[in-house]
Amino acid sequence: MADVLWFNGRFTTTDERVLGVEDRGFQFGDAIYEVVKVLGRRPLFVLEHFRRLEVGLRTLEIRCPWTSESFETLVRDLIDRSEFQDGTIYVQVSRGEAPRSHYWPDECEPTALAYSRRFSFPDEAKKERGISVVTAPDIRWHHCHVKSVNLLGNAIAKKRAQRAGATEAILLLDGLVTEGAGSNFFAVRNHGLVTHPLDEHILPGVTRDRVIGLALGVRIRVDERPLREAELFDLDEAFITSTTNGVMPVTEIDGRVIRNGRRGEVTGKLQRLFEELERA
Ligand code: PDD
Repeated sequence: MADVLWFNGRFTTTDERVLGVEDRGFQFGDAIYEVVKVLGRRPLFVLEHFRRLEVGLRTLEIRCPWTSESFETLVRDLIDRSEFQDGTIYVQVSRGEAPRSHYWPDECEPTALAYSRRFSFPDEAKKERGISVVTAPDIRWHHCHVKSVNLLGNAIAKKRAQRAGATEAILLLDGLVTEGAGSNFFAVRNHGLVTHPLDEHILPGVTRDRVIGLALGVRIRVDERPLREAELFDLDEAFITSTTNGVMPVTEIDGRVIRNGRRGEVTGKLQRLFEELERA
């Protein structure tokens, strides 16, 4: 069934072919995107997603088509027109359509779109079981803090994980862990968290930020430093965070089981706290 689509100011459905072949998002990956979680018809952390979108667009010198208020209204309207309880809203803004050339015209009308879709978030059994991951080289561009649609490096890593029977790829750059192909990565060592600091090598995850806040609130130490590859095999626990996964335990890395292969205590605690926050 087609999903509700908002395209450049009008509502339609994803059945309609709306994009021009010379849209720069399509040809150059010249676009920024966001994924917002909808839980029980309530959109979560909308303002945080909007702020990140705004910063990304400003970095690329693309005009933001919304204010925070009009963005919230759009999200609300999409949910009102959809029938699901739980889902996601995908938002994308590209620089727009122009005759193909690396030089973009200064006056380009952005292409803005958003669509809502039903999504089944991991259930309790899955959240307890956790996931296996594999390591993969981080071959992405050098501005990973910008949520651009240049996701080929991420897709290649994720496909590698899938072929190895795993769910996520943990990316390694010069012997250091950056993040997951579609998530942020956390290690638990000596009851504290270790995660890559905010810089151009990782996406400033909305979930990451909330989880760090929750951890600090219950006196769990948070060390924002890159984890060395070798440390991956000397962990007490590990988990990833993302909009669609929330806090997801990692129980196996490259075929090696972490501790007893069960969700760890710290991970379980943060998972519960994050779920409470989502439902508050
Ligand atoms: N991915 N790092 C990368 C590379 C990501 O693609 C994502 C999210 C995250 C986590 O960010 P957040 O907590 O704000 O979702 C980190 C989205 C969900 C996606 O591409 O579908």
